[in-house]
Amino acid sequence: MGRIAESEWIWKDGEFIPWADAQVHVLSLAVQFGSSVFEGIRCYDTPDGPAIFRLQDHIRRLFDSCRIYRMEPVHSADDIVRACGALVDRNEIDSCYIRPTVLRGYGSAGMLPDASPTETFICCWPWGTYLGDGALEKGVDVCVSTWARPAPNTFPSFAKGAGHYNNAQLIKMEAVANGFAEAIALGPGGLVSEGSGQNLFLVHNGVLLTPPLDGTSLAGITRASIIAIAADLGIPFREVMIPREMLYTTDELFFTGTAAEVTPIRSVDRIPIRSNGIGPVTEKLQKRFMDVVHGRSPDTHGWLTRVARTTAASTR
Ligand SMILES: Cc1ncc(COP(=O)(O)O)c(C=O)c1O
Repeated sequence: MGRIAESEWIWKDGEFIPWADAQVHVLSLAVQFGSSVFEGIRCYDTPDGPAIFRLQDHIRRLFDSCRIYRMEPVHSADDIVRACGALVDRNEIDSCYIRPTVLRGYGSAGMLPDASPTETFICCWPWGTYLGDGALEKGVDVCVSTWARPAPNTFPSFAKGAGHYNNAQLIKMEAVANGFAEAIALGPGGLVSEGSGQNLFLVHNGVLLTPPLDGTSLAGITRASIIAIAADLGIPFREVMIPREMLYTTDELFFTGTAAEVTPIRSVDRIPIRSNGIGPVTEKLQKRFMDVVHGRSPDTHGWLTRVARTTAASTR
């Protein structure tokens, strides 16, 4: 993946600070115990300027993550929504990834966080195709991970908690070490759950399928968008439990996620998917998704939040 492409400013609790100044203490609970929640959001360059995809929904999920982890947000959701737009404007970027983070800072030494105030940061930086050049067109080769997703009622899967990503890193690092772009993880019951940072869809006999939100996967915002787009396009859809072997027999398979967008899968465990590359239903869904986020199709669901330009970027 390489290093982050740094931008100039980071929003920290109501102020813009230089990128290099966004620091936390090594003994903050976020560092010691992974006590932070975050979001990953994309801002796209559109003919009407930069637009942030489903910003309110992402911030709602950020606040839901805070509720689950008993973190008291210092700012209102509206303030964070406004701050995301203001940060993109301030950094004069047209297309980027936005990463709001609420973390428990320095103070407490043990499990009880009462002496560790929360700190809120928002960063943004340019970010290209997550699963590599050509992934969106050609698809990626994946494996089934030997690591399972956490069981329900262990790590709360509806919270996007930083600590949960230790599991995601194990899944991803193993996949890459074995020559795959990504992995599909099973849940504790042995049924298909999701990727390290993506939800998963199948197309089987013309029906779009995805596993239900069973407490082992994140309720992805791209997942919800694809379900809505499938309804718009008249593609039948069902949530069903998916046994591992169906990954090998299905017609089409793809990941969804803010980072991965809509990435076709072309093989699982070296077994080529029947569609042999991007399948026709995946292609239709991907095209409509990309057209909407890039402002080429009408935003009928109200998913785009335009960034008001106040900086020199507006005159470029
Ligand atoms: C574990 C996990 N699953 C699924 C997703 C996809 O969610 P979204 O579409 O909201 O980005 C992500 C990314 O945020 C994730 O980290």
